[in-house]
Amino acid sequence: MKPRILAVDDDERNLALLTAKLEREGYEVGTARNGIEALQKVKDLHPDLIIMDVMMPQMDGYEALRRLKSSEETRYIPVIMLTGRADIEDKVMGFEVGAEDYINKPYSLQEVAARVKSLLRMRALQTKLREAERVAALGEMVDGIAHEIRNPLTAIGGMARRLFEGETDPQHKEYAQWILRSVERLERIILRIDEYKRILTSTLAKGDINNVIFGAVKDVKEFIEGEGKEITIKTNLMPDPPPVNMDYGNLKTALFNVLQNSAEAIERKGEITVETAPAHDQTIAIRVIDTGSGISGDEIRKVFNPFQSSKFGSAGLGLTITYRIIQDHGGEIELQSRKNEGTTVTIRLHPAEK
Ligand SMILES: Nc1ncnc2c1ncn2[C@@H]1O[C@H](COP(=O)(O)OP(=O)(O)O)[C@@H](O)[C@H]1O
Ligand SMILES: [Mg+2]
Repeated sequence: MKPRILAVDDDERNLALLTAKLEREGYEVGTARNGIEALQKVKDLHPDLIIMDVMMPQMDGYEALRRLKSSEETRYIPVIMLTGRADIEDKVMGFEVGAEDYINKPYSLQEVAARVKSLLRMRALQTKLREAERVAALGEMVDGIAHEIRNPLTAIGGMARRLFEGETDPQHKEYAQWILRSVERLERIILRIDEYKRILTSTLAKGDINNVIFGAVKDVKEFIEGEGKEITIKTNLMPDPPPVNMDYGNLKTALFNVLQNSAEAIERKGEITVETAPAHDQTIAIRVIDTGSGISGDEIRKVFNPFQSSKFGSAGLGLTITYRIIQDHGGEIELQSRKNEGTTVTIRLHPAEK
């Protein structure tokens, strides 16, 4: 997606030149002629960055800046101020209110473009870092828990097996078997946690999404067979899709998790369709559509959370893992569903640059 920039200046000519330059640099540009208009536009456009003149009628740049920086929703948008005079006090004031940068007028469009680029890059890195820290903390915690559980679980399993083998009373034998089954279930969860840790890093190389899809479909067909269900999988794929930078194994896991959920949501008989299509924003959309149980709006919001599961004995990490992998591929994933009608999961990926 193109980064969005809001340019604010009351001087029509400057605004037109600035807009034209930024559009040539590949940004989507919105414009405003004063502070009030700017605040309104921020709400509609959700800009990634704002370039704002100081001297404007109705509401000047500093007042607009102050309001932007005092609202939780808008305070993280970087703002570059265009200061009229090379007045040191102006700049100090701008920084105090929270401007990320300033440029003296008259400015060169080249300089504006360069500063915009560097600020956007810095902001993107900051966001990634925050996200990575969160995921790392979560991963560490989950790993710690898995580690603590592993040893006692082995002991419980081993002892229950001995009881089971030495027991002659059929009732007691059944109890021991219950314990063993529960231990196996917990062991499966721990396996998933290990898997979660493993996929925390994706190594990207150019690949063909159709191959990934065929691989994941093959795996899920095996899964379906094991479950003894009658599910038809249809594929409707673009021929010769553009290459995508991918970690083949991880992307296949991501897709398999989605397909497996679809298969699990179908009680006995149903259909899963996998289709790919170029989207308007130049991404490739992979859609997995199933005729399964569907989920309600309340639950949809939580499906990507770790340990969120409606299934007995399931770790609820499938979509958490998938989300993480798609994110590492610079893509997006969303789930739409209606209770009792079915579910559509859409994954959007960017083609690799040539
Ligand atoms: N295609 C689907 N149809 C219905 N529910 C789904 C679908 N995909 C995901 N869900 C819901 O989201 C939850 C979380 O999925 P996931 O993270 O894969 O965990 P798990 O499959 O281990 O439960 C599932 O338990 C299920 O309730
Ligand atoms: Mg799952």
